Amino acid sequence: MRPSLDFATGGGVGDQPVDRVLPIRGSGVSIRRAGRTLLDRVDLTIEPGPLTVIMGPNGAGKSLLLRVLAALIEPDDGAVSWAGTAPSRRRAPRLGFVFQKPVMLRRSAIDNVRYALKVAGVPRIERDSRALDALAGAGLDRLAGSPARVLSGGEQQRLAIARALATRPEILLLDEPTANLDPTATLAIEDQVRRAHQAGTTVAFVTHDLGQARRLADQIVFLHQGRIAEHAPAAQFFAQPSSEAAAAFIEGRLMP
Ligand SMILES: Nc1ncnc2c1ncn2[C@@H]1O[C@H](COP(=O)(O)OP(=O)(O)OP(=O)(O)O)[C@@H](O)[C@H]1O
Ligand SMILES: [Mg+2]
Repeated sequence: MRPSLDFATGGGVGDQPVDRVLPIRGSGVSIRRAGRTLLDRVDLTIEPGPLTVIMGPNGAGKSLLLRVLAALIEPDDGAVSWAGTAPSRRRAPRLGFVFQKPVMLRRSAIDNVRYALKVAGVPRIERDSRALDALAGAGLDRLAGSPARVLSGGEQQRLAIARALATRPEILLLDEPTANLDPTATLAIEDQVRRAHQAGTTVAFVTHDLGQARRLADQIVFLHQGRIAEHAPAAQFFAQPSSEAAAAFIEGRLMP
């Protein structure tokens, strides 16, 4: 875990008081579809601070877990709370969510960010400077006026992260944001996420890429068949996994 960060001071939206979302807590969360249990009584708390990597093989339930914590889907059993209370739409801008495939409006790069700021309730007068700052932080200032949908995959994903960060979320949740990218673009995304984390944003990052998990994680949540098989500091997880499923995954012999 990184020292000397004050995670207690999240940014506010405009001058409005800050509504907290952290810690995000899932208690006994189950998801069932078509007679299958896809998440099975998952207990997980995302505290402010560490960079958490949620790892596991295809189909383990990583995306479902991230979505349920972000209140994009409701659990069939159990509950999710944000800062001790039920999730609310009003606080949604305090969570930045980034998907595997960036979803861009048919507008310029900067207008995509401006729009997110508007939706988050940031006063008009602040939107331009905040959007420009966000683009500069992603190395995209030169492309501010370009249509977002003509940017390369890597640029679009950097833009998606910049857009999510522009509202100064307490937490950034990313679901395999580099799955479609080449190694250079992947490292650029990792750098962007690391900088956001070092600046005080809590991060939950889903990946099944072991190398990426080693590069990024403070702690690992390892999901297997809809259950948390292991939740441990990254160094401990890689050196001495306590579950057979995690050991098999690290050695490349775990099938979904
Ligand atoms: N709406 C749904 N209806 C039925 N099954 C679903 C639904 N959503 C997800 N599943 C199933 O739930 C399981 C977990 O899905 P999830 O997308 O969370 O996996 P994942 O760990 O993110 O996998 P991947 O690494 O491939 O993205 C999969 O077997 C998937 O087919
Ligand atoms: Mg997934």
